[in-house]
Amino acid sequence: MIKFLDLHAQYLGIKSEMDAAIAGVIADSAYIGGERVKKFEADFAAYIGAKHCVGVGNGTDAIEIALKSLGLPQDSKVLVPANSFIATSEAVTNAGFEVVFADVKDDYTIKLEMSEGLKAVICVHLYGLPCDMDEITAFCAKHSLALIEDCAQAHGAKYKGRKVGTFGDAATFSFYPGKNLGAYGDGGAITTNDDALAKKMRMMANHGRTGKYNHEFEGRNSRLDGLQAAVLSVKLPHLEEWLERRNNIASVYLHQLADTPLILPKVHSDRRHVWHLFVVRTDRRDELKEFLSSYGIETGIHYPIALPKLAAYSYNTQDTSEFFACRTDKELLSLPIGEHLSESDAMLVCEKIKQFFGATK
Ligand SMILES: Cc1ncc(COP(=O)(O)O)c(C=O)c1O
Repeated sequence: MIKFLDLHAQYLGIKSEMDAAIAGVIADSAYIGGERVKKFEADFAAYIGAKHCVGVGNGTDAIEIALKSLGLPQDSKVLVPANSFIATSEAVTNAGFEVVFADVKDDYTIKLEMSEGLKAVICVHLYGLPCDMDEITAFCAKHSLALIEDCAQAHGAKYKGRKVGTFGDAATFSFYPGKNLGAYGDGGAITTNDDALAKKMRMMANHGRTGKYNHEFEGRNSRLDGLQAAVLSVKLPHLEEWLERRNNIASVYLHQLADTPLILPKVHSDRRHVWHLFVVRTDRRDELKEFLSSYGIETGIHYPIALPKLAAYSYNTQDTSEFFACRTDKELLSLPIGEHLSESDAMLVCEKIKQFFGATK
């Protein structure tokens, strides 16, 4: 059995540290706010290389809070890549703005296009691959657009040596349990180098307050809690080692599958991919998924329906039928990857894929 994700195996590797950290939170009853949250925020900001980190309830809220704090005009349009999890576009609508879908390139990162009324861009470092940040920051500067980086899948990824989460006005992270850095429940964070924006986002996430009952505006309740901060603080020092292990699995796949008919993920020499997902394409996707499953090899699909084709966007009149994202969603397949896998597990996956195709290209 080769699992797609094995959170219990990860826990067993850090069990004594984790049990002590969780027991510490319970002993102090420090469930909301407190020193553990502050410490994790400071450590995560330092890890990313950003001035501020604001812990929030999840990665979706992170995007919504960042968008609402930017001070965009009411009827603003926001560019969102057509291949992402719905959270990216949902946050735009819930923040009161209009989604404009952008196609993606063949490395699944956003393809920029200016349009009337556009005021912001959300670039998603999808699957753990940094977007082309030189291109995106130049485009945003040229058209006076705000930029949010959705780093939900890209903790620790780098573009030209600099971590993602430091390029936009704000950057958002998810600590959903299955992410490369995952909590034991929901969690999220926003990083920024802008002092005033950091303050506003922190207030927005905590009822618009500065003090206990001093509310300057109506915000919401979206906080990273003490237990999640303690869990994340145990995991953060292990993250680099876990990313290395993901990278080793990716290297096996890239090497071993090079001569198969699969379309492999693109790698760029100036970027550090953190391989949250290893996504291949084939027009025999469903057959291959079934074949691997019959040998106990779990796979995933990210994402089976491109965002513009979801029922949730049936109101959207934008013609996206020719988008690469909309044409290729039925070909995407995510192979198992993670620190729980050994290189021999990856070799077995490759062997079965080669067996499936029978012959080389
Ligand atoms: C690209 C992307 N953006 C946003 C999110 C939302 O994060 P969360 O599930 O923590 O709300 C996720 C993950 O679920 C994601 O993969």
